[in-house]
Amino acid sequence: MRNSQLEEIRLVGDVIIPGDKSISHRAIMFGSLANGTTRITNFLLGEDCLSTIACFRKLGVHIDVLEEEVIVHGKGIEELKEPNAVLDVGNSGTTARLMMGILSGLPFHSVLIGDASIGKRPMKRVTKPLKQMGASIDGREDATYTPISIRGGSLKSISYHSPVSSAQVKSSILLAGLFADGTTIVSEPEKSRDHTERMLKAFGCELDVNGNTVSINGNQRLTATDVIVPGDISSAAFFLVAGSIIPNSEILLKNVGVNPTRIGILTVLERMGANITLEDEKMVNGEPIANIRVKSSKLKATVIGGAEIPTCIDELPILALAASMADGETIIKDAEELRVKETDRIQTVVTELSNLGVSIEATKDGMIIQGNSSLKGANVKSHGDHRMGMMLSIASLLADGETEIEDTNCIAVSFPNFKEQLNDLIK
Ligand code: S3P
Repeated sequence: MRNSQLEEIRLVGDVIIPGDKSISHRAIMFGSLANGTTRITNFLLGEDCLSTIACFRKLGVHIDVLEEEVIVHGKGIEELKEPNAVLDVGNSGTTARLMMGILSGLPFHSVLIGDASIGKRPMKRVTKPLKQMGASIDGREDATYTPISIRGGSLKSISYHSPVSSAQVKSSILLAGLFADGTTIVSEPEKSRDHTERMLKAFGCELDVNGNTVSINGNQRLTATDVIVPGDISSAAFFLVAGSIIPNSEILLKNVGVNPTRIGILTVLERMGANITLEDEKMVNGEPIANIRVKSSKLKATVIGGAEIPTCIDELPILALAASMADGETIIKDAEELRVKETDRIQTVVTELSNLGVSIEATKDGMIIQGNSSLKGANVKSHGDHRMGMMLSIASLLADGETEIEDTNCIAVSFPNFKEQLNDLIK
Protein backbone atom coordinates (compact mmCIF):
# COMPACT_ATOMS: atom_id res chain seq x y z
CA MET A 1 0.00 0.00 0.00
CA ARG A 2 1.35 3.46 -0.91
CA ASN A 3 0.80 6.80 0.67
CA SER A 4 2.34 9.97 1.90
CA GLN A 5 1.18 12.27 4.66
CA LEU A 6 1.59 15.02 2.08
CA GLU A 7 -1.26 13.58 -0.01
CA GLU A 8 -3.63 14.42 2.87
CA ILE A 9 -6.06 11.57 2.57
CA ARG A 10 -9.10 11.29 4.80
CA LEU A 11 -11.51 8.43 5.50
CA VAL A 12 -15.19 9.12 4.98
CA GLY A 13 -18.21 6.81 4.66
CA ASP A 14 -20.02 3.79 6.06
CA VAL A 15 -18.48 0.38 6.68
CA ILE A 16 -20.29 -2.93 6.97
CA ILE A 17 -18.29 -4.77 9.61
CA PRO A 18 -18.21 -8.55 9.06
CA GLY A 19 -19.72 -10.91 11.62
CA ASP A 20 -18.08 -11.47 15.00
CA LYS A 21 -15.50 -14.26 14.85
CA SER A 22 -16.04 -15.51 18.43
CA ILE A 23 -19.83 -15.60 18.01
CA SER A 24 -19.66 -17.22 14.54
CA HIS A 25 -17.51 -20.09 15.90
CA ARG A 26 -19.88 -20.67 18.79
CA ALA A 27 -22.99 -20.60 16.56
CA ILE A 28 -21.55 -23.49 14.48
CA MET A 29 -20.45 -25.42 17.57
CA PHE A 30 -23.67 -25.05 19.55
CA GLY A 31 -25.82 -25.59 16.44
CA SER A 32 -23.90 -28.84 15.84
CA LEU A 33 -24.50 -30.03 19.42
CA ALA A 34 -28.17 -29.02 19.36
CA ASN A 35 -31.23 -30.85 18.20
CA GLY A 36 -32.86 -29.04 15.27
CA THR A 37 -31.99 -26.49 12.60
CA THR A 38 -29.90 -23.42 13.43
CA ARG A 39 -29.95 -20.64 10.84
CA ILE A 40 -27.06 -18.20 11.20
CA THR A 41 -27.13 -14.79 9.52
CA ASN A 42 -24.15 -12.42 9.12
CA PHE A 43 -21.89 -15.41 9.76
CA LEU A 44 -18.21 -14.55 9.32
CA LEU A 45 -17.01 -16.44 6.24
CA GLY A 46 -13.40 -15.97 7.32
CA GLU A 47 -10.88 -18.79 7.25
CA ASP A 48 -10.98 -19.41 11.02
CA CYS A 49 -14.74 -19.99 11.09
CA LEU A 50 -14.57 -22.11 7.94
CA SER A 51 -12.12 -24.34 9.87
CA THR A 52 -14.77 -24.82 12.56
CA ILE A 53 -17.34 -25.79 9.91
CA ALA A 54 -14.88 -28.28 8.37
CA CYS A 55 -14.26 -29.91 11.78
CA PHE A 56 -17.97 -30.42 12.49
CA ARG A 57 -18.60 -31.78 9.01
CA LYS A 58 -15.97 -34.43 9.81
CA LEU A 59 -18.00 -35.28 12.92
CA GLY A 60 -20.95 -35.96 10.64
CA VAL A 61 -22.87 -32.67 10.95
CA HIS A 62 -24.60 -31.43 7.79
CA ILE A 63 -23.87 -27.69 7.36
CA ASP A 64 -25.00 -25.59 4.36
CA VAL A 65 -22.98 -22.48 3.59
CA LEU A 66 -25.25 -20.26 1.50
CA GLU A 67 -24.80 -16.67 0.35
CA GLU A 68 -27.26 -15.19 2.87
CA GLU A 69 -26.98 -17.65 5.74
CA VAL A 70 -25.33 -20.72 7.17
CA ILE A 71 -27.64 -23.56 8.16
CA VAL A 72 -26.58 -26.17 10.71
CA HIS A 73 -28.69 -29.33 10.70
CA GLY A 74 -28.10 -30.44 14.30
CA LYS A 75 -29.10 -33.94 15.35
CA GLY A 76 -27.87 -33.73 18.92
CA ILE A 77 -24.79 -34.91 20.75
CA GLU A 78 -25.59 -38.62 20.39
CA GLU A 79 -25.40 -38.45 16.58
CA LEU A 80 -21.86 -37.00 16.40
CA LYS A 81 -19.55 -39.69 15.04
CA GLU A 82 -15.88 -40.60 15.28
CA PRO A 83 -14.00 -38.71 12.52
CA ASN A 84 -12.05 -40.87 10.06
CA ALA A 85 -9.54 -38.09 9.36
CA VAL A 86 -7.67 -35.54 11.46
CA LEU A 87 -9.53 -32.35 12.44
CA ASP A 88 -7.59 -29.37 11.06
CA VAL A 89 -8.18 -26.10 12.96
CA GLY A 90 -5.95 -24.09 10.59
CA ASN A 91 -4.88 -20.85 12.31
CA SER A 92 -7.76 -20.83 14.81
CA GLY A 93 -7.01 -21.02 18.53
CA THR A 94 -10.72 -20.72 19.35
CA THR A 95 -11.53 -23.78 17.21
CA ALA A 96 -8.68 -25.75 18.79
CA ARG A 97 -9.44 -25.01 22.42
CA LEU A 98 -13.26 -25.11 22.32
CA MET A 99 -13.22 -28.29 20.19
CA MET A 100 -11.00 -29.95 22.80
CA GLY A 101 -13.67 -29.32 25.44
CA ILE A 102 -16.39 -30.80 23.23
CA LEU A 103 -14.31 -33.78 22.04
CA SER A 104 -13.41 -34.61 25.65
CA GLY A 105 -17.05 -35.42 26.30
CA LEU A 106 -17.61 -37.55 23.21
CA PRO A 107 -17.06 -41.33 23.41
CA PHE A 108 -14.54 -41.69 20.57
CA HIS A 109 -11.03 -40.90 19.37
CA SER A 110 -10.04 -37.77 17.45
CA VAL A 111 -6.84 -35.93 16.49
CA LEU A 112 -6.52 -32.14 16.21
CA ILE A 113 -3.89 -30.44 14.07
CA GLY A 114 -3.34 -26.85 12.92
CA ASP A 115 -0.93 -24.61 11.03
CA ALA A 116 2.62 -23.64 12.09
CA SER A 117 1.33 -20.84 14.38
CA ILE A 118 -1.14 -23.18 16.15
CA GLY A 119 1.73 -25.64 16.63
CA LYS A 120 3.44 -23.05 18.88
CA ARG A 121 0.41 -22.03 20.95
CA PRO A 122 -0.04 -23.45 24.46
CA MET A 123 -2.81 -26.03 24.73
CA LYS A 124 -1.95 -27.30 28.20
CA ARG A 125 -4.12 -24.53 29.65
CA VAL A 126 -7.08 -26.61 28.42
CA THR A 127 -5.71 -30.15 28.23
CA LYS A 128 -4.73 -30.06 31.93
CA PRO A 129 -8.22 -29.34 33.31
CA LEU A 130 -9.84 -31.57 30.67
CA LYS A 131 -7.63 -34.47 31.81
CA GLN A 132 -8.67 -33.73 35.39
CA MET A 133 -12.26 -34.20 34.22
CA GLY A 134 -11.35 -37.67 32.94
CA ALA A 135 -10.55 -37.21 29.24
CA SER A 136 -7.62 -39.14 27.84
CA ILE A 137 -5.48 -36.58 25.99
CA ASP A 138 -1.96 -36.71 24.59
CA GLY A 139 0.21 -34.51 22.43
CA ARG A 140 3.68 -33.04 22.10
CA GLU A 141 5.37 -32.04 25.36
CA ASP A 142 2.77 -33.61 27.61
CA ALA A 143 -0.26 -32.36 25.62
CA THR A 144 1.04 -28.79 25.39
CA TYR A 145 1.19 -28.55 21.59
CA THR A 146 -0.67 -29.95 18.57
CA PRO A 147 -1.07 -32.55 17.19
CA ILE A 148 -3.30 -33.44 20.14
CA SER A 149 -5.19 -36.72 20.33
CA ILE A 150 -8.28 -37.09 22.49
CA ARG A 151 -10.27 -40.08 23.61
CA GLY A 152 -13.33 -38.66 25.30
CA GLY A 153 -16.00 -40.28 27.35
CA SER A 154 -17.61 -40.08 30.72
CA LEU A 155 -16.42 -36.95 32.49
CA LYS A 156 -16.64 -35.83 36.09
CA SER A 157 -17.25 -32.22 37.03
CA ILE A 158 -14.45 -30.08 38.47
CA SER A 159 -14.07 -26.73 40.15
CA TYR A 160 -11.26 -24.98 38.32
CA HIS A 161 -9.57 -21.63 38.83
CA SER A 162 -7.87 -20.69 35.58
CA PRO A 163 -4.53 -18.91 36.06
CA VAL A 164 -5.24 -16.88 32.88
CA SER A 165 -8.25 -14.74 32.01
CA SER A 166 -9.20 -16.53 28.81
CA ALA A 167 -12.59 -17.10 27.22
CA GLN A 168 -11.11 -20.02 25.31
CA VAL A 169 -10.11 -21.78 28.53
CA LYS A 170 -13.37 -20.91 30.30
CA SER A 171 -15.48 -22.03 27.31
CA SER A 172 -13.56 -25.27 26.79
CA ILE A 173 -14.18 -26.34 30.40
CA LEU A 174 -17.84 -25.23 30.35
CA LEU A 175 -18.46 -27.22 27.16
CA ALA A 176 -16.85 -30.31 28.70
CA GLY A 177 -18.99 -29.56 31.78
CA LEU A 178 -22.09 -30.01 29.61
CA PHE A 179 -21.14 -33.70 29.31
CA ALA A 180 -20.01 -34.20 32.92
CA ASP A 181 -21.76 -35.59 35.98
CA GLY A 182 -22.48 -32.85 38.52
CA THR A 183 -21.75 -29.12 38.47
CA THR A 184 -18.61 -27.75 36.79
CA ILE A 185 -17.34 -24.42 38.13
CA VAL A 186 -14.80 -22.19 36.34
CA SER A 187 -13.35 -18.95 37.66
CA GLU A 188 -10.71 -16.61 36.27
CA PRO A 189 -8.68 -13.63 37.57
CA GLU A 190 -10.48 -11.03 35.37
CA LYS A 191 -13.68 -11.48 33.39
CA SER A 192 -13.09 -12.59 29.79
CA ARG A 193 -15.60 -12.35 26.94
CA ASP A 194 -18.89 -14.05 27.84
CA HIS A 195 -20.34 -15.07 24.45
CA THR A 196 -20.37 -18.75 25.44
CA GLU A 197 -22.47 -18.04 28.53
CA ARG A 198 -24.92 -15.85 26.59
CA MET A 199 -25.27 -18.22 23.66
CA LEU A 200 -25.61 -21.38 25.77
CA LYS A 201 -28.60 -19.69 27.43
CA ALA A 202 -30.07 -18.89 23.99
CA PHE A 203 -29.72 -22.61 23.15
CA GLY A 204 -31.75 -23.47 26.24
CA CYS A 205 -28.98 -24.35 28.73
CA GLU A 206 -28.99 -23.28 32.34
CA LEU A 207 -25.86 -21.81 33.84
CA ASP A 208 -25.06 -19.51 36.68
CA VAL A 209 -22.79 -16.46 36.40
CA ASN A 210 -21.49 -14.83 39.55
CA GLY A 211 -18.80 -12.20 38.89
CA ASN A 212 -15.81 -14.02 37.38
CA THR A 213 -17.22 -17.47 38.23
CA VAL A 214 -19.48 -19.56 36.01
CA SER A 215 -21.22 -22.83 37.02
CA ILE A 216 -22.90 -25.28 34.70
CA ASN A 217 -24.81 -28.49 35.43
CA GLY A 218 -23.89 -31.52 33.36
CA ASN A 219 -26.04 -33.72 31.13
CA GLN A 220 -27.90 -30.78 29.58
CA ARG A 221 -29.12 -30.83 25.98
CA LEU A 222 -29.09 -27.90 23.53
CA THR A 223 -32.11 -26.86 21.49
CA ALA A 224 -31.51 -25.22 18.10
CA THR A 225 -32.19 -21.51 17.74
CA ASP A 226 -31.49 -18.95 15.03
CA VAL A 227 -28.50 -16.66 15.50
CA ILE A 228 -27.92 -13.17 14.08
CA VAL A 229 -24.20 -12.48 14.41
CA PRO A 230 -23.29 -8.88 15.35
CA GLY A 231 -20.45 -7.09 13.53
CA ASP A 232 -17.07 -7.84 15.11
CA ILE A 233 -15.82 -4.98 17.30
CA SER A 234 -12.30 -6.43 16.91
CA SER A 235 -12.59 -5.77 13.15
CA ALA A 236 -14.29 -2.39 13.71
CA ALA A 237 -11.28 -1.46 15.88
CA PHE A 238 -9.07 -0.84 12.84
CA PHE A 239 -11.52 1.76 11.51
CA LEU A 240 -12.14 3.26 14.97
CA VAL A 241 -8.42 3.99 15.25
CA ALA A 242 -7.98 4.99 11.59
CA GLY A 243 -10.96 7.36 11.81
CA SER A 244 -9.54 8.88 15.01
CA ILE A 245 -5.97 9.47 13.86
CA ILE A 246 -6.39 10.38 10.17
CA PRO A 247 -7.42 14.07 10.16
CA ASN A 248 -10.84 15.16 8.82
CA SER A 249 -12.26 11.64 8.83
CA GLU A 250 -15.77 10.51 9.74
CA ILE A 251 -16.79 6.84 9.58
CA LEU A 252 -20.04 5.10 10.53
CA LEU A 253 -19.63 1.44 11.51
CA LYS A 254 -22.94 -0.40 11.35
CA ASN A 255 -24.39 -3.11 13.64
CA VAL A 256 -21.30 -3.66 15.75
CA GLY A 257 -21.39 -5.88 18.86
CA VAL A 258 -20.87 -3.80 22.00
CA ASN A 259 -20.86 -6.58 24.60
CA PRO A 260 -19.39 -5.05 27.83
CA THR A 261 -16.68 -7.75 27.90
CA ARG A 262 -15.44 -6.59 24.47
CA ILE A 263 -15.56 -2.78 24.53
CA GLY A 264 -12.12 -1.99 25.95
CA ILE A 265 -11.27 -0.42 22.57
CA LEU A 266 -14.07 2.13 23.10
CA THR A 267 -13.20 2.98 26.71
CA VAL A 268 -9.47 3.28 25.96
CA LEU A 269 -9.97 5.43 22.85
CA GLU A 270 -12.48 7.65 24.66
CA ARG A 271 -10.00 8.11 27.52
CA MET A 272 -7.42 9.11 24.90
CA GLY A 273 -9.80 11.83 23.68
CA ALA A 274 -11.40 10.07 20.70
CA ASN A 275 -14.69 11.36 19.31
CA ILE A 276 -16.86 8.23 19.30
CA THR A 277 -20.65 8.01 19.60
CA LEU A 278 -22.95 5.01 19.82
CA GLU A 279 -26.25 5.24 17.94
CA ASP A 280 -29.31 3.00 17.68
CA GLU A 281 -28.31 0.65 20.52
CA LYS A 282 -30.35 -2.56 20.77
CA MET A 283 -30.24 -6.21 21.89
CA VAL A 284 -30.05 -9.01 19.34
CA ASN A 285 -30.01 -12.65 20.57
CA GLY A 286 -28.87 -11.58 24.04
CA GLU A 287 -25.97 -9.52 22.64
CA PRO A 288 -25.99 -5.67 22.59
CA ILE A 289 -25.26 -4.02 19.22
CA ALA A 290 -24.99 -0.40 18.03
CA ASN A 291 -23.90 1.77 15.13
CA ILE A 292 -20.63 3.47 16.02
CA ARG A 293 -19.65 6.86 14.60
CA VAL A 294 -16.05 8.03 14.82
CA LYS A 295 -14.70 11.45 13.91
CA SER A 296 -11.01 12.33 13.95
CA SER A 297 -9.54 14.07 16.98
CA LYS A 298 -6.19 14.65 18.65
CA LEU A 299 -5.43 11.76 21.01
CA LYS A 300 -3.47 11.80 24.26
CA ALA A 301 -1.42 9.03 25.88
CA THR A 302 -2.82 6.62 28.43
CA VAL A 303 -2.04 3.56 30.56
CA ILE A 304 -3.79 0.31 29.58
CA GLY A 305 -3.67 -2.57 32.08
CA GLY A 306 -5.43 -4.70 34.70
CA ALA A 307 -9.02 -5.82 34.20
CA GLU A 308 -9.21 -3.78 31.00
CA ILE A 309 -6.77 -6.09 29.17
CA PRO A 310 -9.13 -9.03 28.45
CA THR A 311 -11.71 -6.53 27.11
CA CYS A 312 -9.30 -5.28 24.42
CA ILE A 313 -6.72 -8.08 24.10
CA ASP A 314 -7.08 -8.44 20.31
CA GLU A 315 -7.16 -4.65 19.84
CA LEU A 316 -3.79 -3.93 21.49
CA PRO A 317 -1.81 -3.97 18.20
CA ILE A 318 -4.02 -1.26 16.67
CA LEU A 319 -4.11 0.63 19.99
CA ALA A 320 -0.29 0.67 19.87
CA LEU A 321 -0.55 2.47 16.52
CA ALA A 322 -3.07 4.94 18.02
CA ALA A 323 -0.61 5.55 20.87
CA SER A 324 2.19 6.31 18.39
CA MET A 325 0.11 9.27 17.15
CA ALA A 326 -1.02 10.52 20.58
CA ASP A 327 0.52 13.24 22.75
CA GLY A 328 2.83 11.65 25.34
CA GLU A 329 3.98 8.19 26.42
CA THR A 330 1.51 5.27 26.48
CA ILE A 331 2.10 2.18 28.62
CA ILE A 332 0.47 -1.20 27.93
CA LYS A 333 0.96 -3.59 30.87
CA ASP A 334 -0.46 -6.86 32.31
CA ALA A 335 -0.74 -8.12 28.72
CA GLU A 336 1.68 -11.08 28.68
CA GLU A 337 -1.12 -13.06 26.93
CA LEU A 338 -0.12 -11.11 23.79
CA ARG A 339 2.94 -13.34 23.61
CA VAL A 340 0.82 -16.45 22.87
CA LYS A 341 -1.54 -15.12 20.20
CA GLU A 342 -1.27 -15.85 16.44
CA THR A 343 2.23 -14.36 16.84
CA ASP A 344 4.09 -13.01 19.86
CA ARG A 345 2.28 -9.71 19.42
CA ILE A 346 4.57 -7.81 21.79
CA GLN A 347 7.52 -8.72 19.63
CA THR A 348 5.86 -8.36 16.22
CA VAL A 349 4.19 -5.01 17.04
CA VAL A 350 7.43 -3.57 18.44
CA THR A 351 9.54 -4.84 15.51
CA GLU A 352 7.24 -3.59 12.77
CA LEU A 353 6.25 -0.23 14.30
CA SER A 354 9.99 0.38 14.96
CA ASN A 355 10.61 -0.34 11.27
CA LEU A 356 8.13 2.44 10.45
CA GLY A 357 9.99 4.87 12.73
CA VAL A 358 7.97 4.64 15.96
CA SER A 359 9.88 4.86 19.21
CA ILE A 360 8.51 1.78 20.99
CA GLU A 361 9.98 -0.61 23.53
CA ALA A 362 8.91 -4.12 24.55
CA THR A 363 8.47 -4.98 28.21
CA LYS A 364 7.85 -8.44 29.68
CA ASP A 365 4.08 -7.88 29.80
CA GLY A 366 3.43 -5.13 27.28
CA MET A 367 5.06 -2.14 25.62
CA ILE A 368 5.92 1.53 26.05
CA ILE A 369 5.10 3.74 23.09
CA GLN A 370 6.21 7.33 22.46
CA GLY A 371 3.60 9.48 20.76
CA ASN A 372 3.66 12.12 18.02
CA SER A 373 5.67 9.83 15.75
CA SER A 374 6.43 10.62 12.13
CA LEU A 375 5.95 7.34 10.31
CA LYS A 376 8.27 6.61 7.39
CA GLY A 377 7.41 4.10 4.67
CA ALA A 378 9.34 0.82 4.94
CA ASN A 379 9.17 -2.88 4.13
CA VAL A 380 7.22 -4.54 6.93
CA LYS A 381 5.83 -8.02 7.64
CA SER A 382 2.50 -9.30 8.95
CA HIS A 383 4.31 -12.46 10.19
CA GLY A 384 1.20 -14.31 8.97
CA ASP A 385 -0.90 -12.61 11.67
CA HIS A 386 -4.20 -11.13 10.41
CA ARG A 387 -4.36 -8.37 13.03
CA MET A 388 -0.78 -7.34 12.28
CA GLY A 389 -1.64 -7.20 8.57
CA MET A 390 -4.58 -4.85 9.22
CA MET A 391 -2.71 -2.68 11.73
CA LEU A 392 0.15 -2.23 9.25
CA SER A 393 -2.31 -1.38 6.45
CA ILE A 394 -3.66 1.51 8.55
CA ALA A 395 -0.10 2.54 9.54
CA SER A 396 0.86 2.67 5.85
CA LEU A 397 -1.77 5.38 5.29
CA LEU A 398 0.05 7.59 7.80
CA ALA A 399 3.58 6.88 6.64
CA ASP A 400 5.51 9.27 4.47
CA GLY A 401 6.61 7.35 1.38
CA GLU A 402 5.94 3.83 0.24
CA THR A 403 5.18 0.92 2.58
CA GLU A 404 5.37 -2.66 1.37
CA ILE A 405 3.56 -5.18 3.60
CA GLU A 406 4.69 -8.77 3.19
CA ASP A 407 1.82 -11.30 3.35
CA THR A 408 -1.54 -9.59 3.62
CA ASN A 409 -3.39 -12.76 2.57
CA CYS A 410 -3.65 -13.71 6.25
CA ILE A 411 -6.18 -10.87 6.72
CA ALA A 412 -8.79 -13.31 5.32
CA VAL A 413 -8.67 -15.14 8.67
CA SER A 414 -11.05 -12.56 10.18
CA PHE A 415 -11.86 -9.82 7.61
CA PRO A 416 -11.92 -11.11 4.01
CA ASN A 417 -12.89 -7.79 2.36
CA PHE A 418 -10.86 -5.48 4.60
CA LYS A 419 -8.83 -3.98 1.74
CA GLU A 420 -11.92 -3.14 -0.34
CA GLN A 421 -13.72 -1.58 2.62
CA LEU A 422 -10.66 0.54 3.47
CA ASN A 423 -10.14 1.62 -0.16
CA ASP A 424 -13.82 2.66 -0.41
CA LEU A 425 -13.34 5.05 2.53
CA ILE A 426 -10.26 6.78 1.20
CA LYS A 427 -11.15 10.24 -0.13
C1 S3P B 1 -11.46 -15.69 21.80
C2 S3P B 1 -10.85 -15.39 22.97
C3 S3P B 1 -9.60 -14.63 23.07
C4 S3P B 1 -9.27 -13.89 21.78
C5 S3P B 1 -9.50 -14.73 20.56
C6 S3P B 1 -10.93 -15.21 20.51
C7 S3P B 1 -12.71 -16.48 21.83
O1 S3P B 1 -8.55 -15.54 23.36
O2 S3P B 1 -7.93 -13.44 21.80
O3 S3P B 1 -9.22 -13.97 19.39
O4 S3P B 1 -13.44 -16.52 20.83
O5 S3P B 1 -13.00 -17.07 22.88
P1 S3P B 1 -8.25 -15.98 24.88
O6 S3P B 1 -9.51 -16.46 25.42
O7 S3P B 1 -7.25 -17.07 24.82
O8 S3P B 1 -7.73 -14.74 25.54
